[in-house]
Amino acid sequence: MRVAIITGASSGLGREYARYADARHEYDQIWAIARRVERLEELAKECSTPVRCIPLDLGARESIGELVQMMDEASARGTGSGGTDAGETACDEATSEAAGASESIVELAQMMDEASARGFETSGADADETACDEAASEAAGASEPIGVAEDGDTFEVGLLVNAAGFGKFGMYDDMTQEEVDSMIDLNCRALVDITQACLPHMRKGGHIIEIASSASFQPLPGLNVYAASKAFVRSYTRALRFELRGKGIYVTAVCPIWVKTEFIKVARETSNGQTVKHPWPQANARNVVRWSSFINRINYPVATCGLVPFLMRVADKIIPAPLIMWIWEGLRRI
Ligand SMILES: NC(=O)c1ccc[n+]([C@@H]2O[C@H](COP(=O)([O-])OP(=O)(O)OC[C@H]3O[C@@H](n4cnc5c(N)ncnc54)[C@H](OP(=O)(O)O)[C@@H]3O)[C@@H](O)[C@H]2O)c1
Repeated sequence: MRVAIITGASSGLGREYARYADARHEYDQIWAIARRVERLEELAKECSTPVRCIPLDLGARESIGELVQMMDEASARGTGSGGTDAGETACDEATSEAAGASESIVELAQMMDEASARGFETSGADADETACDEAASEAAGASEPIGVAEDGDTFEVGLLVNAAGFGKFGMYDDMTQEEVDSMIDLNCRALVDITQACLPHMRKGGHIIEIASSASFQPLPGLNVYAASKAFVRSYTRALRFELRGKGIYVTAVCPIWVKTEFIKVARETSNGQTVKHPWPQANARNVVRWSSFINRINYPVATCGLVPFLMRVADKIIPAPLIMWIWEGLRRI
């Protein structure tokens, strides 16, 4: 069974990537992930490819464990091509086993914290440490080293699109700690965790599309954490692409300018949502998806999806960052 896994599929770019994957008829299922399940169900109705609606809050670490569990189950079942049952097309509930898998990762982190607090004393293994070892081996099982699927594995992730993400307009003192933390958590941590989880199920001919932004090309006051999170995504994607060379997996970071989606509405919901007065120009989501998918298929590392972001990419290489920030400082007030 070859699936397309798309996060942020309830809206904007993610939803367009799901429609694009549906139109290509290359996947037995589309796994659509977001929090708003009713939106995912609407998407499922309009697609001819079976859509598995997966309501997950990717800001919660447990969600990654649930996704890993779903993939492991699909892999173990070896459903064969086109296999979908009622349980898969219906919306998934969290499984307690999945929660257990993610708990073991949390346990491992806790063990490391405790060891760190103790100053990594290695001598004198006590009962606690023996118990910790068992948990550690479980945790190791839950996060095996990255590989690429063997031929015997009938479950395959043919396309991964990480489109779940958000930004918030505002200066440092307009933002709550929760806003900045959740932005980093979703845009960076969740994106990496999902990619890591999918890689063992990918094989030659697979596609990875990570949504960064033209904000990744320079530091942006008034969008400081968001721009930095997208610089992370772009850098991560390029390095991952290098690591995967020779494995036949197509990896692209997508760096568009503003896109007409719900992004700007969400970005304005802060104590100073007018920090960027008129986000302009705005690209069409469908065009961004088509262009970036083409760029990914010709195996190019970065898709800028338009002249303005392309110029921003070039400017980043030749104009010093302080000057770029002063130019942006003027533009965002217009
Ligand atoms: N629009 C732009 O101007 C622009 C420009 C450059 C880059 N981007 C990037 O493009 C990506 C897609 O954004 P968009 O423009 O399509 O915005 P959007 O329409 O607001 O879509 C964001 C998607 O992320 C999902 N999401 C948000 N928080 C989530 C969470 N905690 N767990 C799971 N899913 C979550 C949302 O679904 P639910 O709310 O249902 O969970 C939604 O499907 C983002 O990474 C964004 O940074 C956007």
